[in-house]
Amino acid sequence: MAKTQTTFFCKNCGASSPKWVGKCNSCGEWNTYTEEVIHKDKPEYKKTWKSQSVKSVLKPVLLADVEHGADFRYELKDLELSRVLGGGIVPGSVILIGGEPGIGKSTLMLQIALQFTNKKVLYISGEESDTQIKMRAERLPFRNNDCYLFTETSTQKIGKALQELQPDIVVIDSIQTLQSELIDSTPGSISQIKETAGDLIRFAKETGTPVFLIGHITKDGALAGPKLLEHMVDTVLQFEGDRNHVYRILRTTKNRFGSTSEMGIYEMHGAGLREVSNPSEILISQRDENLSGIAISATIEGLRPLLIETQALVSTAAYGTPQRNSNGYDAKRLNMLLAILEKKCGLRMGMQDVFINITGGLRVEDPGIDLGVIAAIVSSYQNVPIDNKIAFIGEVGLSGEIRAVSRIEQRISEAEKLGFTTVYISKFNKLPKQKSNITIVELSKLEEMLNYLFG
Ligand code: TYD
Ligand code: MG
Repeated sequence: MAKTQTTFFCKNCGASSPKWVGKCNSCGEWNTYTEEVIHKDKPEYKKTWKSQSVKSVLKPVLLADVEHGADFRYELKDLELSRVLGGGIVPGSVILIGGEPGIGKSTLMLQIALQFTNKKVLYISGEESDTQIKMRAERLPFRNNDCYLFTETSTQKIGKALQELQPDIVVIDSIQTLQSELIDSTPGSISQIKETAGDLIRFAKETGTPVFLIGHITKDGALAGPKLLEHMVDTVLQFEGDRNHVYRILRTTKNRFGSTSEMGIYEMHGAGLREVSNPSEILISQRDENLSGIAISATIEGLRPLLIETQALVSTAAYGTPQRNSNGYDAKRLNMLLAILEKKCGLRMGMQDVFINITGGLRVEDPGIDLGVIAAIVSSYQNVPIDNKIAFIGEVGLSGEIRAVSRIEQRISEAEKLGFTTVYISKFNKLPKQKSNITIVELSKLEEMLNYLFG
């Protein structure tokens, strides 16, 4: 008779303990242990995944002797995803893609599956039926005659199907619906996620087949399931955006095969997701007249320069404590900029409500947009518009100095390409001598900029 064993798992880090404990010894979180039932000693345990072509190395080898094939990555038609992954899919890699319900994870993965015209793709869904997926596929403008569907949640059955079909690429929608028959707990529980993801990762590594896992996220934005899942996979992508906006942003939070600073932008429309290759043009709102409280900054996301628009609204606080609200920009940094304005430029920000919004639902962490944020705030405060042909590039230091930023040439040339005539930058940014038509205003302190703009 199979021995039934119950174990307690930490919801945060996936650590296990035979008894319930209040505080996790491994991650220090309180009240995260839940009980789950496991059958560990079934004979077939861990033997269900026969390798198709085991390339495993049995003894230590010299790093210099390890060969890598010429076809190092699968090319993708979708250039946004390709860039986010660091230039295509590495064979045998496991990519976890998380996002809120309804953001478009299934749509994105189905459309990626359909874009491979010469690869056999297996799309495994535990959430939708064949006909539902077919209906979705009909709306998309791509066709792949070698795309298979499998609506199944048992990893044992999925394992068999994988051995028979031998697909080139596998998509799992979603990891929270999968279930190993060897474990009694419900799908989506920590032990199930650990076990099923472990199986799929082993499959990917043994056969060199890339596997995409779609993952749900919890209400505070973290990927559901143990943190361990993120450690197990090679790449973690976040698909985010405001469901009321059409733009969706794909970011990497972890990538073993590329940079994590890359970002892909998509637009959701009637026929699926469309890649946005010229983001600056859409992120800057169209307007005929100059309005106060708007400033454009040139930032860098990954390798791409990007012009973004900051909108600020400053108004006298009606009640006691003034409100500070920021959308897409770090709230702590906003408070810091307001303190600098108060102390160094003598603007009375202490009595003002301040609202900041980065348009397009974007979240920007680059401190190089500080100067633009300050310009927008002061423009709204003074109610004086800024000429819409000026772009701002610079980080602001605590004593009000304007600091140099990285990759200044790229930022300036993007601004120039989009028709800006003037850029405000730090004078400490060393620019190579070259002829350009754009006027460059070099500044060392905030007061200088405010004098230029608002007199
Ligand atoms: P979906 O991929 O089902 O989201 P997820 O898997 O992340 O839960 O996307 C659902 C949303 O996308 C839905 O609200 C409708 C919208 N959508 C379009 O606007 N156009 C389309 O062509 C498709 C397929 C979906
Ligand atoms: Mg879905």
